Amino acid sequence: MGKKRIVTGDRPTGRLHIGHYFGSLKNRVKMQESGEYEPYILVADVQALTDNFNNPEKVRKNVKEVVLDYLSVGIDPNKTTIYIQSMIPEVAELTVFYSNLVTIARLERNPTVKTEIAQKKDLFGESVTYGFLGYPVSQAADITALDGELIPVGEDQLPLIEQCREIVRKFNSIYGEILKEPEAVLSNAKRIKGLDGNEKMGKSLGNAIYLSDSEDEVNKKVMSAVTDPNRIKKDDLGNPDVCMVSYYHKLFSTEEECKNICEECRAGKRGCVACKKQLAQNINKTLEPIRQKRKYYEDRPELVDKIIIEGTEKAREEAKKVMKKVKKAMKLDYFE
Ligand code: TRP
Repeated sequence: MGKKRIVTGDRPTGRLHIGHYFGSLKNRVKMQESGEYEPYILVADVQALTDNFNNPEKVRKNVKEVVLDYLSVGIDPNKTTIYIQSMIPEVAELTVFYSNLVTIARLERNPTVKTEIAQKKDLFGESVTYGFLGYPVSQAADITALDGELIPVGEDQLPLIEQCREIVRKFNSIYGEILKEPEAVLSNAKRIKGLDGNEKMGKSLGNAIYLSDSEDEVNKKVMSAVTDPNRIKKDDLGNPDVCMVSYYHKLFSTEEECKNICEECRAGKRGCVACKKQLAQNINKTLEPIRQKRKYYEDRPELVDKIIIEGTEKAREEAKKVMKKVKKAMKLDYFE
């Protein structure tokens, strides 16, 4: 039995942060290292354009940043194929074919799309674009173009995978059993809150620590993290349950450290500044090897280009095989 193929990816709209690290990157590296899968990671530049069509510079710049982030956390191009979505024309073709198999009402009901449209009123006003409404169709093309079997995602992405499965079933029922129906793998990783306590860490919210942040940047950001608002003086009794510093200690510090911190905070024996300094130190300890790896690749841009070009060629070969079968099934194989 062959290895199960994994397809994952990110929109290149910003550098990746520690939320991505705990939410998906660590898990991707783990799956890669298990040797049990055949992983593909796409940089979803076309998808990024659906809500950044007016800012192509931003998308272009972040394609490289995101690839550097992948490499820096240990995505190994010898084990995981990294590729650029827009360089696989078969994905665009499949998107067009699948668009006949999806109703507008069904897209409008997709909870992920619905939430995002509500958040993007500034961009879309009262009427969303055809491209944005249809991005689940394009994501279904990403997955099926590579015969993706397992799709590790966070909870917010589940409706997109479900929609992909529906498209696959519809396609297969009309044109024959050609496409593989992918399965979502819900990672146990949870979403990481922002420095300000917001449920989501994100670029637009200005509350993120990036994997590529310098030591100084981390120190500064940690100092700005939101702590127990009722604790004003050092000897006030603190409540670590409502403190972002304590929240991040649980991710970056040892159990022993966390226990001491909480006890001392509750007893009013530990000041927030000391607590933050210790946290910043531990975050920097985690990020240091990631920074070093990033630097290695930043200093070798031709190597990074080669990784992307070769990964994309490999992904394209797979997509061509799927496209050949699809065209035959759809009776579009005119001069074969
Ligand atoms: N929608 C995903 C995100 O927002 C990115 C993505 C695009 C993706 N195509 C994919 C994820 C295919 C998994 C499989 O991060």
